[in-house]
Amino acid sequence: MSLSAGDKLNLVFPLGGRGFTFPAADERILLVGGGVGVAPLLFFGRELRRRGAVPTFLLGAKSADMLLERGKFEAIGNVYITTEDGSAGEMGFVTQHSLFEKETFQRMAVCGPAPMMKAVAGVAQKHGIECEVSLENMMACGVGACLCCVEKTTRGNVCVCQDGPVFNINELTWLN
Ligand code: FES
Repeated sequence: MSLSAGDKLNLVFPLGGRGFTFPAADERILLVGGGVGVAPLLFFGRELRRRGAVPTFLLGAKSADMLLERGKFEAIGNVYITTEDGSAGEMGFVTQHSLFEKETFQRMAVCGPAPMMKAVAGVAQKHGIECEVSLENMMACGVGACLCCVEKTTRGNVCVCQDGPVFNINELTWLN
């Protein structure tokens, strides 16, 4: 489907009331995004910048031409990149980037495909980094009625559209 300027869309947003946690003054935060999941990180990064921090981004894509809004990220923070084919940044996945061996972060904010977020959660656990993920579960009603967005957590099943979309990885059952 393609759209033109002036087309009308029916949207229900924003859903859920939980966004990423802003880092404490003594915390370094790394924002990790993949695919279209980079979109909320641009917004969050701008908010961090507005509050005086210089955010660090780690962005992953299949290839250089699939990196979204690279220039906008570079305008507000430090940007590190991985591509699966090596056409930009380091070749491989975000979890393989050398940044994790060179620099220390106390907090991560992550958004992207579920397999990527699960892999990043594993890296966070290994390095003892506090980590939040913004889930992209399919949503239909947006009001907690259809249950198509349910995620299993340590406190039972929850609707991402109402209780999320951001969760600490320790609340999820991914790493158990
Ligand atoms: S989208 Fe229907 S319950 Fe969440």
